[in-house]
Amino acid sequence: MIGAAVAGGVLVSSKQASVASRLFTLATRTAVADSRIEILTAEPIGTIAPEIYGHFVEHLGGVVYDGIWVGENSKIPNLGGLRKSLVDAMKKIKPGLVRWPGGCFADSYDWRDGIGPRARRPRHTNFWRDAGEWPKDTPDGPWKYETNQFGTADFLRFCKLVGGEPYIAANLRSLSARDFYQWVEYCNSPAGTTSPADARAADGEREPFKVRYWGIGNESWGCGGNFTPEEYAAEYRRFTAWVPNYGIKLAFVGSGPNGGDLDWTRRFFTRLNERRALGAMWGWALHHYSWNVSGGRTTDWRQGKGDAVNYQNEEWYELLSQADLMDSLITNHWNVMGEIDRTHRVKLVVDEWGAWYKPGSEVNNTHLLGQQSTIRDAVLAGLTLDTFHRHAEKVGAANIAQLVNCLQSLFIAHEDKFALTPTYHVFDMYSAHQNATAVRTIVSSPPSSYTRNGQSATMRGLNGSASLQGRFLTLTITNADLKNARETEISIRGATIKSVMGVNLKATDIHAHNTFADPHRVEPKDLNVAQVRNPLLYSFPPASVTRLDIELE
Ligand code: AHR
Repeated sequence: MIGAAVAGGVLVSSKQASVASRLFTLATRTAVADSRIEILTAEPIGTIAPEIYGHFVEHLGGVVYDGIWVGENSKIPNLGGLRKSLVDAMKKIKPGLVRWPGGCFADSYDWRDGIGPRARRPRHTNFWRDAGEWPKDTPDGPWKYETNQFGTADFLRFCKLVGGEPYIAANLRSLSARDFYQWVEYCNSPAGTTSPADARAADGEREPFKVRYWGIGNESWGCGGNFTPEEYAAEYRRFTAWVPNYGIKLAFVGSGPNGGDLDWTRRFFTRLNERRALGAMWGWALHHYSWNVSGGRTTDWRQGKGDAVNYQNEEWYELLSQADLMDSLITNHWNVMGEIDRTHRVKLVVDEWGAWYKPGSEVNNTHLLGQQSTIRDAVLAGLTLDTFHRHAEKVGAANIAQLVNCLQSLFIAHEDKFALTPTYHVFDMYSAHQNATAVRTIVSSPPSSYTRNGQSATMRGLNGSASLQGRFLTLTITNADLKNARETEISIRGATIKSVMGVNLKATDIHAHNTFADPHRVEPKDLNVAQVRNPLLYSFPPASVTRLDIELE
């Protein structure tokens, strides 16, 4: 009966609430709610860095060309060549950080190719020309033969326009430390002081960009050089031993492990510490993609992947279970880092995360690794961001891969067509957490059950986090369960509730996604919420992402 009063995921009105709460006291609590959330407002975890809301732009398939960059002479509305609709949408979600130019591409990129008059910029074979599984009949173009029309000044202008901090990945595999610090000179040296600063002025930017975040290579255990941790530590030291800072507190990010490779973390930290060089590192990158939906049938990188849109229930749970591994990855690497970096000066930077499917759902055949993003990806995004909040003292920055037309994108774009994905809406909903203090939140709910390769399996039911900014508490919750709404009692310890509002994202079809023809199919809806008592009763719908905005007295 009470369940009916809160069914449908909408909090009840105040009159209904008082009826519900009277009924609630008459009923046994366990009969009403199957889940509990306890928010401990007096137990802060740390500030949620806006940099956790980071994005990733690589010269890969349709990310830059056809994604962000349409060119200054395009008929598509643009701001100095940058797709205007994308810039406008980005501004709204307050991007904390934007990483560029890769990924694997970064270790093949010479920044000098992307400066100066566009007509005179050289063309080179893009890293991904030979590395990727291109969609059928992909023509040649800048996605295969880089034309360098989009260079450093364009990227940094993009960051300024959208309001995100730039995070540039240096080429450690195929350029020298000198090339790296001269790139820093190009970006940051005061106007008129150096030749790179003059080159920057010739590119239309007299004033320094003051770029703070610099990645020292990318995936140096693989495409970034195939180094051992000890070899990479030596290269890392060479690159960071001297870099001009121009009064900016440069934040260097080391190329960290692939998923759970604790050996890479331990051996790198040990070797760096032998030379007392830990001080020259701000962040340690971790990459984790969710891709294997085979239910344990294979670990093969190609065979294990599923389709972005056409999936069975088992694939839904398998993918989200992999995303949920982020929690233990963070804890495990953090503990290993702490064996050497005892005071935890170095933060974790999860600079590549998201879903990776097999080819087939890209919106154009030039979009290598392009894929659709459904309500499943929205749940994945919410679940992952909540995980970062719960580890706010450990995670200094993160970047979903990638911004547009590639992997778990926030946008799909082709020529003049443009749409927001469900993942975009989660970033929008969750941006309320930025700069707030994450507070300890205990979520207990029945696990979701499913059949995995013929056997019964479970995954975490509700997943979430809460943060506090003054009197405003933000609670975000994903319900990964495909069938069951979770009737939940939400207790806020140490506070009284003044009002509650909210928004949620759900879909009746678990494959629902937005297309150019139907761009508004999956969109968040405001919840009709009235003032309610503490504890709140709320029903989290199946396959949904919810944010509750709770004002405290
Ligand atoms: O995001 C695509 C690729 O995945 C990146 O270039 C690389 O760093 C990772 O392996």
